[in-house]
Amino acid sequence: MPNSVILPQWLDDIIFNEYKAVYEPRPEDVMSNADKDYDFAKLYLGTYFPRSYAESYCIWGKLLENKNYCKVMDEYSELNILDFCCGTGGEIFGVISILHERLPNLRSIHIDAFDANPDYIRFLFHLSEKFNDNIDIRINPQCFYIETEQNLQDLVNSTNTLYHIVMSCKALNEFIQHDVFPNENIYEKIARTFLPCLDKKGLLLISDLSHKDQKKGVFYPEIMNKGFNSLIRSDNSYRSLYPYPCFFHEHQCPGCYMQDIVYVSHSRRLKDISKIVYRIIGKLDFVEKMMSGVSSQQLCRANFSNADKTIPYQSK
Ligand SMILES: C[S@@+](CC[C@H](N)C(=O)[O-])C[C@H]1O[C@@H](n2cnc3c(N)ncnc32)[C@H](O)[C@@H]1O
Repeated sequence: MPNSVILPQWLDDIIFNEYKAVYEPRPEDVMSNADKDYDFAKLYLGTYFPRSYAESYCIWGKLLENKNYCKVMDEYSELNILDFCCGTGGEIFGVISILHERLPNLRSIHIDAFDANPDYIRFLFHLSEKFNDNIDIRINPQCFYIETEQNLQDLVNSTNTLYHIVMSCKALNEFIQHDVFPNENIYEKIARTFLPCLDKKGLLLISDLSHKDQKKGVFYPEIMNKGFNSLIRSDNSYRSLYPYPCFFHEHQCPGCYMQDIVYVSHSRRLKDISKIVYRIIGKLDFVEKMMSGVSSQQLCRANFSNADKTIPYQSK
């Protein structure tokens, strides 16, 4: 699976030509999105939507190289996906693209997508109406601002299905920055909230930015790994599936820094760089079946070549 992706031409045309999205990286401003206005939503769509598309396409693509998982997924004609803090939904389009490419039996995908920002949600709604494919895609974007436990429970209670994929991409750092649930590890909390929403063969993906939180002085990957390791150690009904080293090391891992790098090209930028951390978790027996045949000789991901905190944030 390559780590360099080209945004599909039809999406490129719609976002840049029809919606007049703007490519302009604004690393400071994009740290906080829930209250951004329509103009910033256009900037998010032109700059960060393509990155999110590529991240999701690559992560799910790598997972679908696992023959056990690909076989399970190929038995479905319908899939249910939930996206928590979907923004403009780049990761939704990324996962749909790769599922469509790899799963010939897939006929329909239903997506429940939640986010606080009404302008982001509006873009996602309009984009979702543009699908012109031989599979039936139904995206149901909803505006939810989460600041209390009750908000979170209301969101979960508003769903009425079990999901094959639950995702939350690059959003939980905003909860940390704004002190939403300040006394809890947000990655552990959101995983505990949504894992019960998974189908027995479902998977939860949480990704986030790989840099340091300014207030806490700690890198998001370190907070994430601490939270997930704590969850897995205290609840033996779940295991990490991907990145594979976590499956083998999570019970004794002292915590690590990790990041992965993905490139995306589109009409406004060649090889735009995106740096993220992520983990995929599922039910213990399902994950163990998916790991059958995967070598236990896995280099700890903290030692991956990209897991270098000092790699500069610039395109190749
Ligand atoms: C960086 S964006 C990521 C969007 C999308 N998941 C992606 O990967 O492109 C973070 C999203 O989290 C949402 N968000 C942040 N805090 C939130 C909260 N307390 N409740 C609901 N959504 C929130 C923002 O509105 C924003 O759309």
